[in-house]
Amino acid sequence: MRTGQGTLALLRTSWQYPEKAVQARAIFAETGNRMDQLSLFNTSAQDEHSRAAARAAKLRRDIEHHNRLYHQLDAPEITDEAFDALFRELVSLEERFPDLRTLDSPTRRVGGAVLPYLETRPHRERMYGLDNVFSAEEWEAFVQKASRALPEAPAAVMNAWWADPKLDGLACELSYENGVLVQALTRGDGEVGEVVTEAMRTVRNLPLRLAGEGPFPRRIEIRGEVLMFRREFEELNNRQTKLGQKRFANPRNAAAGSLRQLDTNVTAGRGLRFLAYSLGEVEAPGMADWRTHSALMSSLKAWGFDIPPEGRICRGLDEARGYYEHLGQIRDDLPFEIDGVVYKLDDREAQAALGFTARAPRFAVAWKFTSRKAETRLRKISIQVGRTGVLTPVAELDPVSLGGVMVSRATLHNEDEIRRLDLRENDMVIIQRAGDVIPDVLGPVLEKRPEGLPSYEFPHVCPVCGSPARRLEGEAAWRCLNMACPAVIMRSIVHFVSKAGLDVDGVGAKWVEALIESGRVKSPADLFTVTKQELMSYERMGEVSAGNFVDALRQAKEHATLTRFIAALGIRQVGEQTARTLAGHFHDMDELERAGVEELMQLPDIGPEVAGSIRAFFETESNRILLERFRAMGLWPEGGGQERGDGTLSGRKVLFTGTLSRPRDEFRRMAEAAGANVVSGVSKTLDYLVAGDKPGSKLDKARELGITVLDEEAFLALLTGKNDAGEAAGKQGGQE
Ligand code: IVH
Repeated sequence: MRTGQGTLALLRTSWQYPEKAVQARAIFAETGNRMDQLSLFNTSAQDEHSRAAARAAKLRRDIEHHNRLYHQLDAPEITDEAFDALFRELVSLEERFPDLRTLDSPTRRVGGAVLPYLETRPHRERMYGLDNVFSAEEWEAFVQKASRALPEAPAAVMNAWWADPKLDGLACELSYENGVLVQALTRGDGEVGEVVTEAMRTVRNLPLRLAGEGPFPRRIEIRGEVLMFRREFEELNNRQTKLGQKRFANPRNAAAGSLRQLDTNVTAGRGLRFLAYSLGEVEAPGMADWRTHSALMSSLKAWGFDIPPEGRICRGLDEARGYYEHLGQIRDDLPFEIDGVVYKLDDREAQAALGFTARAPRFAVAWKFTSRKAETRLRKISIQVGRTGVLTPVAELDPVSLGGVMVSRATLHNEDEIRRLDLRENDMVIIQRAGDVIPDVLGPVLEKRPEGLPSYEFPHVCPVCGSPARRLEGEAAWRCLNMACPAVIMRSIVHFVSKAGLDVDGVGAKWVEALIESGRVKSPADLFTVTKQELMSYERMGEVSAGNFVDALRQAKEHATLTRFIAALGIRQVGEQTARTLAGHFHDMDELERAGVEELMQLPDIGPEVAGSIRAFFETESNRILLERFRAMGLWPEGGGQERGDGTLSGRKVLFTGTLSRPRDEFRRMAEAAGANVVSGVSKTLDYLVAGDKPGSKLDKARELGITVLDEEAFLALLTGKNDAGEAAGKQGGQE
């Protein structure tokens, strides 16, 4: 690490030190946008402005040049202090002349934008997936099929394939207009992606302006993969643990989560990178196109993109196989995760002639690696007690590296699985990791089994409370049936606020556990009574985190939907889908409580077991007391109320567009809780378009098709059934 201490040195290294990026940003924020000293009719001011413009342009080029030397090539030419000075000069010019803060200004790399929601936009050209092959035979069959499809093509053309690693991140498309980055879209479903332009601008290794003198295409879409390297992934997970937040399962999820942040300051602190590997639409009138994919890759490099390492041409099966084996060998030494090799026909004309099937190109294929295995010792089988009292066996392993990630635990599923594998404590075992960090145990290595190892006996008592466990008929799981088991209570409270429950952002499991362990929280209702002051008395809980915690719960209480509330209660057999069905049918918990088994069973997908379990929930005294506490504190959401004949959105297609007063996700949930199907595109079958501020082209299209347009207020009225639905909708539609 370099030693520079200035603000901008902080920026240069801010993906390792996000808190420093925050400091640095605060310094910029203070400055504001002031144009007061500038009079447009004063020639000396004009001179000053044009001198500033020229200087800013030079600074932008120099800073980006040094940025690239530092972050991409690891070969800095100037000290951090000198870099700081350049950056500061640019910041101060942009302060004085805000119009100089161009789209490609490196000052945009520090984040700062906070978006209300992620907008979606269609790709101009669909982003296809890739077909997979898993063996040399399948690879050869793919290549032969391509050759048969182009009988006229010379053998040499059909024999030259560009090969590079298949990156395990998320695909993204960057649009450059006249060399300047103007838009970034995630792949999404291939047709429509999410707009992540601001977030992508914080990714240090991508050019905000294409390098070199140009000329540049009028418009060009560069596609590639957004990755989190292993090192940043581990650092992020360490930070998550410290903050009591959930760890990410793998770098791909972490990259996706970091990119799709509304607050781009978060993205800026996550150290994402972009590696370019192909093109989307190109508008380059009068410019020569690339004849081969290899030539394209050279141009991408010259423009300042990082490209996947080790890319090369393979001719014929032997070379292709050799390359596959080579990458398999160096795989764990790469700083990021890959899951195979991608082969692309090098000749671009032949690529175009082959075209695409319904889902993938005919000119490119992924040869996937088989999943990684490792051998280690099974130290011990420990038992975890879940929210519903299920006892889950977990393999405690001697730590072993599996694809660059240290693994020390694996899931064992249940008693039958342990018996099927005949696993014993102290066995050497083979483990395999498919995609996530938590691997599977494939089985023991019997040759290495020490003499006299006793078979494993699954415990018949709960390891936490000691009460007898039962394996109910027809179930694979043993359960602790003690409703007061501390483990069951802890898990239920954690579940209440988790993603599967109320989904309270910023209330990490670690803190909930600490509150329970200290005895302050004994039921999910207690969480809502914890004050900021109390929280701050816990070790490592600062004022900001404590404030966030309390705010998040208050927000959740105010905005909870009936679906989330029902899901949060953790009624056995009632997951999110069933919760949605119930919330779409019943007005509130009172109505649900009054429903008998027969009424419940008339609802879609609710059978006697689920109905019985809902009844059992209400018949339990402690649950009724808990519900009364929620009602008293105002956590009492109302649902769609399908039976009431009005206000329902059941089966209706709804689309949200434009800026709404709350995150779009919240609106989506509300709509879904009322039975609506939330869609992303305008079509004839759309029932309602809910338009916020700056609705854009979707509104135009909806109007063209005569679709009912609602503003936010009308939508809420429709949802809560406060107005007659038809009337509210009709009025709004007419008004537009
Ligand atoms: S080329 C038309 N090269 O893997 C072919 N794709 O599972 C364009 N991917 O979504 C893609 N590494 O985005 C190419 N070296 C690489 C890649 C790569 C990863 C992505 C690709 C696709 C996915 C398919």
